[in-house]
Amino acid sequence: MLQNDVTDTAVTLRRATAADLPAIALADGRAFGVHYTDTDLDDIRALFEPDRYVLAEDPDHGIVGITGDFPFDVTLPGGAAVPAAGVTWVSVAVTHRRRGILRALMAEQLRAFAGAGLPVALLTASEGAIYGRFGYGVATERRDVEITRRRAALRPDAPDPGGVRQATTAEVRAVGPELHERWAARTPGALSRSDAWWDSILSDREHRRGGASALFHLVHADGYVSYRIDRSTQTCRIAELVTATDEAYAALWRTLLALDLSETVSWWNAAVDEPVQHLLADPRQLRTLGLFDGMWARVLDVPAVLAARRYAAELDVVLDVHDPFLDLGGRFRLTGGPDGAACTPVTGGEPAVALGIAQLGALVFGGGRAGSFARAGLVRAADPDVLRRFDAAFRTERSPVHGTEF
Ligand SMILES: CC(C)(COP(=O)(O)OP(=O)(O)OC[C@H]1O[C@@H](n2cnc3c(N)ncnc32)[C@H](O)[C@@H]1OP(=O)(O)O)[C@@H](O)C(=O)NCCC(=O)NCCS
Repeated sequence: MLQNDVTDTAVTLRRATAADLPAIALADGRAFGVHYTDTDLDDIRALFEPDRYVLAEDPDHGIVGITGDFPFDVTLPGGAAVPAAGVTWVSVAVTHRRRGILRALMAEQLRAFAGAGLPVALLTASEGAIYGRFGYGVATERRDVEITRRRAALRPDAPDPGGVRQATTAEVRAVGPELHERWAARTPGALSRSDAWWDSILSDREHRRGGASALFHLVHADGYVSYRIDRSTQTCRIAELVTATDEAYAALWRTLLALDLSETVSWWNAAVDEPVQHLLADPRQLRTLGLFDGMWARVLDVPAVLAARRYAAELDVVLDVHDPFLDLGGRFRLTGGPDGAACTPVTGGEPAVALGIAQLGALVFGGGRAGSFARAGLVRAADPDVLRRFDAAFRTERSPVHGTEF
């Protein structure tokens, strides 16, 4: 039996085995309103590593709680990639909610990650109020955007690099991984993508198409875009746009905006600072339909993460990181700049900046703003100059994007 903080003593925690997959899928499907088919189970099995799943079990009900994770590498500002756990499949049975089962699962899982030396855990959240208490903060945001193609003229001087060709899914499977790696190296928050993930995404199952066509692709030497056509609304829906150079970005957008018979180009997963609006003669033609939290991050090893990233400006500051859930915080001296950084635990002295572990998770990829947290009382610095420097140092040239939904 594993660590168990559940108030209901009948419920115990254990690691999953391969044989648990059908019961896990049944429990998960009940929580999320999905009936998984045998084909779905085969797809899920390709990414399922049983040891990575913690189950809560009630002798009278079977599995009543689940959490699992996928292994990724994630890019920090400056380009270093660190191992990360992508938490997934989180649910508690409707009959067993609000008795501390999620809390017990989170504690068990996060302690195991920390014990294994993982510097950071990541997840995407079904609701915004669940994960802050466990130390997760919003690390990436996504914009749901659309462009009415007829009104979206490009700037007369917008680059026209060319070099785009239409490609099959098999061709994207061949060239995509290298392009994606190059994109990930320059994108904070980007997740690495294993062969199993590539196969899963490009298997393009019908239930993932939202009523639109199977995937079409455009490929450039430095990037690609995958999209679907929804003929009922004459919409080209971008599934993903991955570019390693600005030339590829401009060339692929120019081609997308030439898609006759599509009234609208929509993208549910655009970055906060998506440059396409600056390629348009009228930037207002990129309409934002919504702004949402994307990936949440939970720092598990403060010095490892802070020393591995780079900073936009030179910084020498003592931080007081508050982590009531796992007690992995403390006082740290962080010195760093664009070329390197060091972070070591310190004792004594007055910290210049105090913040919660969840706010650190939000700042670490360059998405969150220390100044904004400070105005809400979540980052505290007695000296406004220190706060200004801290805020500036954590900023990144481009907004973080995680790129793979998990
Ligand atoms: C979200 C879910 C996993 C919570 O499980 P649970 O076992 O009821 O949670 P716990 O009893 O351990 O709650 C721990 C704390 O979180 C709070 N909490 C739990 N779910 C919450 C929610 N949806 N919104 C706000 N607070 C929530 C509890 O009130 C409790 O607060 P406390 O620390 O102040 O006591 C469960 O409701 C569920 O499975 N929902 C449907 C599937 C889902 O949304 N999964 C998450 C996918 S990202």
